[in-house]
Amino acid sequence: MKDDYGRHIDYMRVSLTDRCNFRCRYCMPEEGIDMLSHREILSFEEILRVISVAVKRGITKIRLTGGEPLVRKGVPGLIRRIKSIEGISSVSMTTNGYLLGEMAHELKESGLDRVNISLDSIKREKFQHITRRDGLEMVISGIDKAIEAGLSPIKLNTVVIGGTNDDEILDLVRFAAGRKLTLRFIEQMPFSDDNRDDFISAHEIKDIIAGKFGTASVPDIDESALFKGFGPSEHYRFGENGPVVGFITPISNHFCSRCNRLRLTADGKLKPCLLSHDEIDLRTALRSGCSDRDLEGILSYAVDRKPKGHLLNSDIFERSRGMSKIGG
Ligand code: 5AD
Ligand code: SF4
Repeated sequence: MKDDYGRHIDYMRVSLTDRCNFRCRYCMPEEGIDMLSHREILSFEEILRVISVAVKRGITKIRLTGGEPLVRKGVPGLIRRIKSIEGISSVSMTTNGYLLGEMAHELKESGLDRVNISLDSIKREKFQHITRRDGLEMVISGIDKAIEAGLSPIKLNTVVIGGTNDDEILDLVRFAAGRKLTLRFIEQMPFSDDNRDDFISAHEIKDIIAGKFGTASVPDIDESALFKGFGPSEHYRFGENGPVVGFITPISNHFCSRCNRLRLTADGKLKPCLLSHDEIDLRTALRSGCSDRDLEGILSYAVDRKPKGHLLNSDIFERSRGMSKIGG
């Protein structure tokens, strides 16, 4: 599907649940959020139907997200069924890694291609402060099991929070390099009430890494291809033979012009853009006996409603759902 601004929409992020076993400060309050009831979330059958129609409209890549996708039961079976839909080239997942240790092999066998794992700290107490769970050991074991299972590429995502984990930037770069994984720093987006003052830009992070490893340069074209997943990140090599690090910059340099995605929330709303309030209710259509043609029409409509750019930097921006309700 092509949208009004010439963007080729071939990627759909599918949130399997709004629940999560963590409570990251930038995402959720300590007490959690009002959770969707079982009836409100799309069944696997409904998700599979949406994907099989989306494929006809040119979607080829699916990423499973949450909340935390692995807290929903039966995910390997779902992956197997998504992979068997003709036209699907890749199924990936974004996870906090907590349950990956026990599931990585099964996920690989079911056909999962790639995985992004969130890792904001490699110090136990700080990890616990950020996620409000004592989970570092489980997550590191999840990362190592994912490597062992052959999931590839594996990317680590770090949200940098000023005054909290900005002293770990170099340690995290070394941690990822030691395991030959790509690390990407994500600029913090203002989803919770208390994170407006601790923003650190990608520019600042880059300076810190360059100070240690040498000047940042854009890897050459062949090499860049290696680091290009289907994400909005930009990658730089630091120094002559230093580490390659990715940056996702929704705030300082938004990438809306390259945005190739649609989002499906756990309760069956299509979101043309992460950061707009616009939602299109697919669930009601699904549950009132609509035809595949109708569904195709709704998908095209959602693509047409993708905005040209978001308003996160402006005063007009109001938070819509928190990240755990959208799916990252
Ligand atoms: N700003 C930036 N990234 C966020 N994530 C969750 N909330 C935010 C936020 N406020 C990230 C997680 C994870 C992905 C799903 O989204 O760290 O890597
Ligand atoms: Fe859970 Fe991810 Fe939100 Fe953390 S950022 S609370 S892991 S959904």
